[in-house]
Order: sequence, then C-alpha cells, then structure tokens
Amino acid sequence: MTTTDVTPDLLRPHAEQAYAEELRTLAAIDDRPRPPSWQLSPWAVVTYLLGGTLDDGTVISPKYVGPRRLMEVAVATLATDRALLLLGVPGTAKTWVSEHLSAAICGQSTLLVQGTSGTAEEAIRYGWNYARLLAEGPSEGALVPSPVMTAMRGGAIARIEELTRIPSDVQDALITVLSEKTLPVPELGMEVQATKGFNVIATANDRDRGVNELSSALRRRFNTVVLPLPASEDEEVAIVSRRVEQLGAALELPEIPAAAEEVRRVVRVFRELRSGITADGRTKLKSPSGTLSTAEAISVITNGIALSVHFGDGILRAADIAGAVLGSVIKDPVADAVVWTEYLEAVVRERPDWSDFYRACREVSR
Ligand SMILES: Nc1ncnc2c1ncn2[C@@H]1O[C@H](COP(=O)(O)OP(=O)(O)OP(=O)(O)O)[C@@H](O)[C@H]1O
Ligand SMILES: [Mg+2]
Repeated sequence: MTTTDVTPDLLRPHAEQAYAEELRTLAAIDDRPRPPSWQLSPWAVVTYLLGGTLDDGTVISPKYVGPRRLMEVAVATLATDRALLLLGVPGTAKTWVSEHLSAAICGQSTLLVQGTSGTAEEAIRYGWNYARLLAEGPSEGALVPSPVMTAMRGGAIARIEELTRIPSDVQDALITVLSEKTLPVPELGMEVQATKGFNVIATANDRDRGVNELSSALRRRFNTVVLPLPASEDEEVAIVSRRVEQLGAALELPEIPAAAEEVRRVVRVFRELRSGITADGRTKLKSPSGTLSTAEAISVITNGIALSVHFGDGILRAADIAGAVLGSVIKDPVADAVVWTEYLEAVVRERPDWSDFYRACREVSR
C-alpha cells in the first residue's frame, strides 16, 4: 500500500514520499516497542516530527516547531483506543501535523476525508458503485469503501480534515466507528471490524464561521490537542524561513539573498497586529479581522520571492512584499483599512530602518 517512489515532477509529494529516506532510517535504528501495526515506536514518531540527531549522526529534519510535550500527548493518544482531535486557530499546522503523524505511524497519509458542509455519510461509511449495484444487486463488489473503512480494514490511520464543517448528523456516523470499532453494512448483513492499528486524526479550527459544534458524545471519543501560535518571534521566523525554503525548492524558484530580513519584518508586522501591541510593548494597536497566521506569512514571502525573481532584481525587497502584506491584513475593506492605516502611520513610519517598507506600503495602498 505504501507509496514511496517519488516521481520528480510531483508538485507536492505526500509526507511519506518526501521523507521516505528519514522514515526508513528511523525504522532501521528504532528498537523500542511498537504498538500493533505501527511502523515506528512512539519515540521514533516524535523524533520524526520534531527532528534531532540520531546516535549514528543521521540528522532528522524538524517538521513541527513547538512544544515537544504536545506531540508526545498526540502520539500517545494514537497508541490508545481514543482518537486524536487537533484543534487551533487557522495556520497552526494542524493539517501538517496530521499528515506527518499518519505518514510516520502507518506509512500513508492519504486515507483522507475532507470535511465540508456538503460531506455526506458515504464519505465516512461507504458508498455504492451504482452500475454494479443495479447489475448484481448489493454485493461486496459493488460496495465503495470510504477512507475510514479502508483504514479500519488495514489497521491504518484515517484523517478527517475540518471535522466541524461536516453536518452534525454526518459527524455522528463516527460514533459507532470510534466506540465499537466497527462499521455495520446492513445491506449486506455484515460489518467491517477495525484491525489493530486503526485510529482517527481529525482537525478542526475554532475560528471559522459556519462550524457545526461536535456533539458531546463524539467529543468524548477524542483526546483534544490544541496547537498554539508560535510562542516567540524567533520561533515564527524559523518556521517561515524553513517552509519558504522548502516551497521555493519545490517550485524551483532560485535562491534569494537577504530574504531573512524581510521574513523577520513580515513576522513582526503579523505578530504585532495579531496581539494588538507592538513588540516593544509601548503602543497598543487595533487588530484586523483576518487571522494573520504563520501560514499566511509563508505565502506572503513566497509570493514576494516570485515577484522579485520574475519582475524585480532578484533580491527580495520591501516593494515585493508590501502588496501581499496588505492583502493579508485587509480582509474587510473598510474596518481593516482603518486599522492598517493607523498601524502604518503610528508604527511603521516611526521605525528608522523601515522607511523602505513604509514607502512601499504607501505606494500600494494608494
Ligand atoms: N509550529 C509550526 N511548525 C512547523 N510548521 C508550521 C507551524 N505553524 C505553521 N506551520 C506551517 O504553516 C503551514 C500551514 O499549516 P496548516 O495548513 O497545517 O495549518 P492548519 O492549522 O491546518 O490551518 P487551517 O485551519 O487553515 O486548515 C504549513 O506549511 C506548516 O508547515
Ligand atoms: Mg488545515
């Protein structure tokens, strides 16, 4: 089942493809006890996520940057019979962590249900191949298993993205799966029982509009791990730089010098607006309506690099990022524009080494 052969032209290889080498190395040296059908021990899974240097000198790159304890709790949960719910504001790496956890634990991250307001029960239970259903009546051959059913059979991890966007009655289809570890198929008078190793990782964010609260029956079946925003500016700068570098390499953008300074600037602007106070703690600010997540900072910088490579002089300058920063901050054209102008005039303008950024922002907001 595991796909580890990577075609070089893939726009975005899955975690288990991109990090196949690291996963193999870890599996080879890992002599700690593994839960049934896990490819790695819980210790090795956490090492894969947070990175580190192995005894033989092999370096494992960090995927998640944040508190080790959170990842330990997440991995320990998956080794029990409780499912894992990753909760947090947008852009806190919920999807990212869920993909890497599944890749490390069962070697595949693709048993995925994307939650939307239109997600139907078939996506969680099973559907039918109607041509075969009409031709041969209900049979196992006509049944189309959902990713959850496939994971149950194979003792793998099923991922459910944006669980709270799924209508409540559909969400509740998970209750039997999680508590009884079985999926009844009444049409065939049979059931699919989960084999050892099966579990579910769901993600949900607590900010979006139009969410359907989890029923308490369902919530009880999950252990919740809340992923926080990066604790410090340095941590956030490190996350953004690393991801920008990886994305740039994947998009074959040439390397850009001096990007570090612009990364720090974007991160500072985002953090200040998000927290409503300047980094020196002196000036109170209003926060815009958008979330200004780490993920958005990553895309602002990647955008800027593309601009400077294709239309600029190949050096990332304030003018290359100003437009994208503005686009991230101003989500509501009226209220956010006021917040932004205040910030620009009261904070950006006063910083002596930020005059290029000030000018660039004035230029684009006209
Ligand atoms: N603490 C972190 N460590 C490593 N990467 C991070 C961290 N925080 C954010 N990122 C990066 O941010 C990007 C977006 O993360 P992701 O899509 O997983 O967010 P999310 O929490 O699922 O957001 P949403 O609620 O919008 O779905 C990823 O590329 C990820 O690498
Ligand atoms: Mg997500």
